[in-house]
Amino acid sequence: MTHAEPLLDVRDLRVTFDIRREGDMPWSPPRLLHAVGGVNFALNPGETLGIVGESGSGKSTLARALIGLVPANGHAIWQDGTDLIGLSPRRMLRYRNDIQMVFQDPLASLNPRMTVGQIIAEPLRTHHPGLSRAEIKTRVKENMERVGLLPNQINRYPHEFSGGQCQRIGIARALIVEPKLIICDEPVSALDVSIQAQVINLLADLQRDLGLALIFIAHDLSVVKHISDRVLVMYLGRVMELAEAQSLYAAPQHPYTQALLSAVPVPDPELERSKTIIPLAGELPSPMSPPSGCVFRTRCPRAQAACAESVPELMGSPTHLTACHFPGKLSEEEVALAVQAEAEPA
Ligand SMILES: Nc1ncnc2c1ncn2[C@@H]1O[C@H](COP(=O)(O)OP(=O)(O)O)[C@@H](O)[C@H]1O
Ligand SMILES: [Mg+2]
Repeated sequence: MTHAEPLLDVRDLRVTFDIRREGDMPWSPPRLLHAVGGVNFALNPGETLGIVGESGSGKSTLARALIGLVPANGHAIWQDGTDLIGLSPRRMLRYRNDIQMVFQDPLASLNPRMTVGQIIAEPLRTHHPGLSRAEIKTRVKENMERVGLLPNQINRYPHEFSGGQCQRIGIARALIVEPKLIICDEPVSALDVSIQAQVINLLADLQRDLGLALIFIAHDLSVVKHISDRVLVMYLGRVMELAEAQSLYAAPQHPYTQALLSAVPVPDPELERSKTIIPLAGELPSPMSPPSGCVFRTRCPRAQAACAESVPELMGSPTHLTACHFPGKLSEEEVALAVQAEAEPA
């Protein structure tokens, strides 16, 4: 792990949406939805950070806030000292070159009326308007090759490609401006399982060869396991655990991470049958009224009175941080009680 200045230092990042409904009067109180509730992490140059959390936990909103697509509070300090939060679109443009995104739905994120060549060239035209047509074409072909596409397919349209190939087009489009960071928002969630590994391996190879930093968002801990240097686990807009991948998978400290990991299928059928999935109590609370204190406490097998009183801070060692008042491995009794409570709800 490097000890240089972080590429990006995110401090207390918050995103709140006011979702007034039809029929609300101008003087009606705002309806506030806390999509991201105070996220902290630092990303090192060349590092791959996996961000995991179930649907609605604020992963996409966090990513969009970093590049100025949704208004946010808090800080995201780029390595040159600039705070990206609240930058004017004009000043943000420079950083939008260095931070590229790859989206979930490969086909939907590509303009159907543009050829692959035009799509991949688009960020180059935005950020480097002085380049000649010939230079642009050379760079498009180089990047097609780099992601495993045939350069002679440059004049084809997105619908002529498979989902996995469309995602390669999206990756080439992100790479062409030589960014320092690519944020991949569930880049493989829409792909067949057999194709997922190919795209993950491509991203891992590119990350290694080009020294890129990656933020790799997924809803499943198994997807980011092999690609991530560190993993950040989100729940209801907050960071539950942030640790080096090896440490997180071998010894998860947060009860939520333990529950997520217990649900990941294991390849050995005998182990799969005999393992216990740690159930989560009740329903996912609404981000409009998150629980007081620890937002996970209403579903936690270990919750105590103290959990309602104060928000747990991320604590532990620099390589393994947990936001929990009572971190550590759940005992067999705790798991058994949770399973029992699930079987006979009150
Ligand atoms: N533009 C928006 N306006 C209002 N609410 C939003 C908007 N975008 C996201 N949300 C809400 O914010 C929460 C987090 O959403 P999102 O960031 O998409 O989660 P994830 O990517 O982890 O599935 C959800 O409750 C979602 O409904
Ligand atoms: Mg999302």
